[in-house]
Amino acid sequence: MEGLAHNPDGRVLLLGATGFVGSRLLKELARKRIKLTVLVRSPEKVKPLIPKDADVEVIKGDLLKGEGLEQALEGADCAYYLVHSMGGRSVTVNLEFAERDKKAARNFIRAADASGLRRVIYLGGLGEAGEGLSEHLKSRAEVAKIISSGMAAATVLRAAVIIGAGGASFEMLRYLVERLPVMVCPKWVDTRIQPIAIKDVLSYLVGCLENPDTAGKTFDICGPEVLTYREMMQAYAEARGLARRIIFRVPVLTPLLAAYWVDLVTPVPSGIAHPLIEGLRNEVVCKEDLIDKYVHVDRTPFKEAVKVAFSEEKEGPGITGF
Ligand SMILES: NC(=O)c1ccc[n+]([C@@H]2O[C@H](COP(=O)([O-])OP(=O)(O)OC[C@H]3O[C@@H](n4cnc5c(N)ncnc54)[C@H](OP(=O)(O)O)[C@@H]3O)[C@@H](O)[C@H]2O)c1
Repeated sequence: MEGLAHNPDGRVLLLGATGFVGSRLLKELARKRIKLTVLVRSPEKVKPLIPKDADVEVIKGDLLKGEGLEQALEGADCAYYLVHSMGGRSVTVNLEFAERDKKAARNFIRAADASGLRRVIYLGGLGEAGEGLSEHLKSRAEVAKIISSGMAAATVLRAAVIIGAGGASFEMLRYLVERLPVMVCPKWVDTRIQPIAIKDVLSYLVGCLENPDTAGKTFDICGPEVLTYREMMQAYAEARGLARRIIFRVPVLTPLLAAYWVDLVTPVPSGIAHPLIEGLRNEVVCKEDLIDKYVHVDRTPFKEAVKVAFSEEKEGPGITGF
């Protein structure tokens, strides 16, 4: 895979640079003096995120329309694809997110093939293919397939909930546990999950760029603990020094009702909460640890990740504005 090593004179294209993961990766790559190009819908949103002295070219564009891609790919030998189009308050409008995500990925791959891009690194979701997979997790897997279908060698990382200030799933967890000493949850409360700290996700993303042998491979990435959602909520409360939460399991509570309820008691809009809540029925744990062979990360325990996220939160609202 020697030929796929990142050329320090080449640029790395970062897609999703204004997002929860992308905004942090932008800072991390800039700190490593990597030359970057970002394609963003709103340059004014990305500018405050760019460290002084960093070599970052900002291109205004839109993946859904295919705008700006040709220019953004000029001189790039590797790209990070950290794009997600969930958002907004409306559940109905948001139901189309899967189609939007596929269209954006196809536009990117078409342009990447035309430009001769050599590598792409995509961060998607865990969850096993099959009948019961939620629309959200199915969509993440479909995007992985599209990203891997191009000529660029794709590295696919698959993660469950990422613990960090501003992450949609983490904010939902945070507000629910902080605000509700008593909770009523459906059966997903006993589904298993293996959350991961944002710091570790960044280490894996950077590590994959630095190790060309990760090209063309898919890896599960996780934190050290497998928890049920119930255990995760209690561990969050413990990490924050809150009283143990009282959690009742009820037989029925539809994802739609739960999403409206989350909208009511947290700042996470129902349009984002709905696909995430739907996904809570799917177990999201690592099935393999192949990544350890290529990128070494001392995995952060869940409670430590919560403490870091909370201290970040005190510095200001999450980047995604919850
Ligand atoms: N957050 C988690 O807990 C988590 C867990 C596992 C995996 N992941 C994966 O990590 C990746 C990044 O997630 P995230 O949480 O960082 O998402 P996010 O905060 O919602 O960020 C999404 C990014 O995509 C950009 N984008 C959306 N539509 C676009 C378009 N048409 N053209 C150009 N840019 C567009 C957004 O730009 P704007 O600022 O213009 O909207 C934003 O920068 C996703 O693939 C997700 O599945 C996340």
